[in-house]
Amino acid sequence: MGLKSALRAQYVCQNCGAVSPRWQGRCEDCSEWNTLVAETPSAGIGGAPQRAPRSGRIITLAGLVGDGNESPPRVRCGIAEFDRVTGGGFVRGSTLLVGGDPGIGKSTLLLQAAAALAGAGRSVVYISGEEALAQIRLRAERLEVTGAPVKLAAETSVEDILSTLAAGPVPHLVVIDSIQTLWTAAADSAPGTVTQVRSSAQALIRYAKQSGAAVVFVGHVTKDGQIAGPRVVEHMVDGVLYFEGEGGHRFRILRAVKNRFGPTDEIGVFEMTGMGLREVANPSELFLGERSVSTPGSAVFAGMEGTRPVLVELQALVAPTALGTPRRAVIGWDHNRLAMVLAVLEAHCGVRLGECDVYLNVAGGLRIGEPAADLAVAAALVSSRLNAPLPPDTVYFGEISLSGAVRAVAHGASRLKEAQKLGFARAVTPAARESGAAAGTDPVGQLADLVAAIAANARSADT
Ligand code: TYD
Ligand code: MG
Repeated sequence: MGLKSALRAQYVCQNCGAVSPRWQGRCEDCSEWNTLVAETPSAGIGGAPQRAPRSGRIITLAGLVGDGNESPPRVRCGIAEFDRVTGGGFVRGSTLLVGGDPGIGKSTLLLQAAAALAGAGRSVVYISGEEALAQIRLRAERLEVTGAPVKLAAETSVEDILSTLAAGPVPHLVVIDSIQTLWTAAADSAPGTVTQVRSSAQALIRYAKQSGAAVVFVGHVTKDGQIAGPRVVEHMVDGVLYFEGEGGHRFRILRAVKNRFGPTDEIGVFEMTGMGLREVANPSELFLGERSVSTPGSAVFAGMEGTRPVLVELQALVAPTALGTPRRAVIGWDHNRLAMVLAVLEAHCGVRLGECDVYLNVAGGLRIGEPAADLAVAAALVSSRLNAPLPPDTVYFGEISLSGAVRAVAHGASRLKEAQKLGFARAVTPAARESGAAAGTDPVGQLADLVAAIAANARSADT
């Protein structure tokens, strides 16, 4: 490849990072419009080397086991819900990306974590590229953490940040709020472009690895849930956490979607208050808080989020449709899974739904990914269809197969224990494989049996 072609501008999609030799109105990879921006390929991954290669330095090769003199590999920030999601604290020398919609509370969460850590005697540097020092101090006052010795800076130049960090002792934690605002002279592109974000992240990741400091990047997310622009950063960091919440609800969920050093199915639950984020140690109480007990179409699902049982209310509305094609709308659950449950109800249980609109909502803005919710969804749907409230002291869990059989799911005992703790007397569960069901459970082998029980209940209530 000649020098000329190496330096020719290329077009980089600011949404997905795909590279194209020509400008196009639409990215061929992610189909987004107007995202291609000309960038010089001399920097970043895949770029031509800027200087002639120098001869290599001799690196030290090490074994899998250390000599026992290293500092502990993790630093807990002391906010239990945060530490749970990271898998037990920030890992030394690792990098973490915390993504979320603007205004969801990322800066608040990280300032609280930084203050908690600094208050416990660790050294913490918080660098904001978005807010002035006065604004951060105002927030700290509101959070009542002004006493914590967090070191602040409002800065966007990566070179300046790295020189400053190199000049002092290595901090335990560096927070960069946000990665989109950083700017490095090593890349020729305009600030905010994928190349800039990638080069900046690369430089800071290198710093983290070499120094042993944990570095947390804040990243803004676009409406469709992708981390805007620096989606490429997701692949470079050791962990990606999403901070999410439904508009209008006060509570926020911190979710691990990638974690090289811990589980990816854990969540941390917080409530946004006038004084910052409050930890919610018992999410079930929150998700069941506004439950209307004797409404048809409401069922309580005994779910699991990671290792934690969480009870959550599922709400269904099944109503005759006014349109040619009935509507199916779902919030908080999988669309295809709902279609499957509806099909099984039609085919194996004689529940006619073809001329009904179906709406399903997971209360409180939680998103459920488990097939174990099938049984609770079916119960809510049938209850709404028959206009028969379900017993208020009952929880449901179980997976439904296409044949209409109710299948066992994992963690049955924890689900039952959580339900018991919150005052639920009965549980409708898959039939126990071992003979003899636990006390207070109503095992069902076939979905049709549950439908029959709800129908019988409706009839006895009528008479
Ligand atoms: P912020 O942390 O700035 O969000 P992000 O960094 O994700 O953009 O949080 C902003 C929102 O949080 C703002 O709408 C105000 C609200 N908030 C509270 O309700 N209570 C508080 O104590 C704080 C600091 C913020
Ligand atoms: Mg912010």
